[in-house]
Amino acid sequence: MKTVLITGANRGIGLAMVQQALEAGDEVIATCRRPEEAERILPQHERLRWVALDVTDETSIAALAKQLDDIGVDVLINNAGTYGPKGVPLGEVEAEPWLEVFRTNTIGPLLVTQAMLPALRRGSERKIAFVSSKVGSIDDNGSGGSYLYRSSKTALNQVMKSVSVDLSEEGFVVLALHPGWVQTRMGGPNALIDTDTSARGLLRVIQDSTPEQSGRFFNYDGSTIPW
Ligand SMILES: NC(=O)c1ccc[n+]([C@@H]2O[C@H](COP(=O)([O-])OP(=O)(O)OC[C@H]3O[C@@H](n4cnc5c(N)ncnc54)[C@H](OP(=O)(O)O)[C@@H]3O)[C@@H](O)[C@H]2O)c1
Repeated sequence: MKTVLITGANRGIGLAMVQQALEAGDEVIATCRRPEEAERILPQHERLRWVALDVTDETSIAALAKQLDDIGVDVLINNAGTYGPKGVPLGEVEAEPWLEVFRTNTIGPLLVTQAMLPALRRGSERKIAFVSSKVGSIDDNGSGGSYLYRSSKTALNQVMKSVSVDLSEEGFVVLALHPGWVQTRMGGPNALIDTDTSARGLLRVIQDSTPEQSGRFFNYDGSTIPW
């Protein structure tokens, strides 16, 4: 049995990963901004613990680490993310909303990872996943636009790469993952796959990952995504 910590766990892909990790027999630390509401989403479970975490708030990140200072975490899944304002064309991009997207998608995951390092070092698996997006792939960018979200995920991939290099000697496996185009509030109703399919794929890719694969960018089906 392993202990998995998932951010942005109250809905969408994060919630589906919580459910599937519980079904797989894992201990799950599910984090979200308002855990008092999340407890109404899922029935109580002896292997499920909700902890408050806003990934843009350094006080909240420090409080999470303090609450977990006596346990080991085997797998950290940085899933929380935001698209920011949609359909902003070139000519109308503004700095403030862009900074907010960066705080959530790029800076937050690294600060959470830093804060969780002691708990991850106490764990036995030493795996860190960053839920990125194919939209952050420069090779894949054939349609332009989406400046805020695209750049935040491209930068997240670079963050992931540095973490993978910095932690390689300690045996950590660090991955960037694309969850597919998924039917969530972010992905919308026309998306290609449901949250269960995405979550199952992501958890399998993480479970099967080896140190040789650390620092790479994978689709939820296990295929490699170009940078
Ligand atoms: N859906 C897709 O097609 C798709 C495609 C590529 C990548 N992704 C990525 O997959 C991940 C999950 O997305 P999703 O589709 O499940 O989106 P979603 O349904 O919109 O859920 C986003 C989750 O992130 C949380 N979140 C946002 N800002 C946060 C913050 N500051 N602190 C803590 N939690 C925060 C949300 O919590 P609240 O309820 O509190 O807002 C929610 O739990 C994201 O990183 C996203 O970029 C999704």
